Amino acid sequence: MTAQEYKERVEQALAACFTPSHCPTDGLAEAMNYSLMAGGKRIRPMLVLEFCRMAGGELEAALPIACAIEMLHTYSLIHDDLPCMDNDDLRRGRPTNHVVYGECTATLAGDALQAEAFGTILRSSLPAERRAACAEDLANAVGLDGMCGGQYLDMIGEGKRLSEDELDEINTRKTGALLIAACRMGVHAAGGTDRQLEAATRYGAAIGAAFQLRDDMLDVTSTVEELGKPIGSDAQEGKNTYVSLCGLDECARRIARLTEIAKAALAEGFSDPAFLDELADSMAVRKN
Ligand code: IPE
Ligand code: IPE
Ligand code: MG
Ligand code: MG
Ligand code: MG
Repeated sequence: MTAQEYKERVEQALAACFTPSHCPTDGLAEAMNYSLMAGGKRIRPMLVLEFCRMAGGELEAALPIACAIEMLHTYSLIHDDLPCMDNDDLRRGRPTNHVVYGECTATLAGDALQAEAFGTILRSSLPAERRAACAEDLANAVGLDGMCGGQYLDMIGEGKRLSEDELDEINTRKTGALLIAACRMGVHAAGGTDRQLEAATRYGAAIGAAFQLRDDMLDVTSTVEELGKPIGSDAQEGKNTYVSLCGLDECARRIARLTEIAKAALAEGFSDPAFLDELADSMAVRKN
């Protein structure tokens, strides 16, 4: 499948997840859908689906896993934008969730998306041990040692000068962990081998590091129209970023190195890595 075809399947599947059911909680479902269906690159679902395919699994069986990780990711974005966190008012080209629905509903929309992500995995038709493996990896990627831990370190690091190791630690958790999980969950969905899981982990770690480097660059170099989120938000919040630490040119060099590492890792576990090689290349120079 092409990236566009994957994206369309994911959009379709996500659109069917939270439909209005004429009950008093429809307002919350609307807020969840508002952010979930606002576009987004759908990188994480694509990773799930392609790793599943490469490990010999079925697309249909992996679709709920792909939706789950996008729900989880969307929750992280809604909370990341809240006034108590990054205090941003634009996301995916739209006013942020709390700007439209208020902080209380936005917080709950994020909470519910997180629970629904795990529910979607656990209710899927995959064999029980594959569901469990996906849920465990996702929990690890989101909890104390994953995204939430990273977001906490990101917050308490605001306004301080952190070392490169400290910044790496933040980004490995807040961004890398979920991208690694996406790759691994695809392999789990297919019941892949340990060798494939290992290759997926290494690919995810390398593109994860490159992803946040590029995100930090775009916060400085892009435009609101192209990025769909505010420019200069990091400086405004006193964030530690790779741009502030080592400058734009060095960021670009690091991304290029990490992209090669990602592709080399892939070649060790899979015989047909063309799609993910190209995805890594395109993410390295992405404009949004
Ligand atoms: C943004 O993620 C948040 C980070 C982890 C840097 P994406 O760049 O994948 O955002 P969407 O899903 O395309 O909106
Ligand atoms: C946050 O990183 C990553 C998440 C866990 C959501 P950023 O705060 O840099 O993400 P953006 O730039 O707001 O998308
Ligand atoms: Mg943030
Ligand atoms: Mg942010
Ligand atoms: Mg950012």
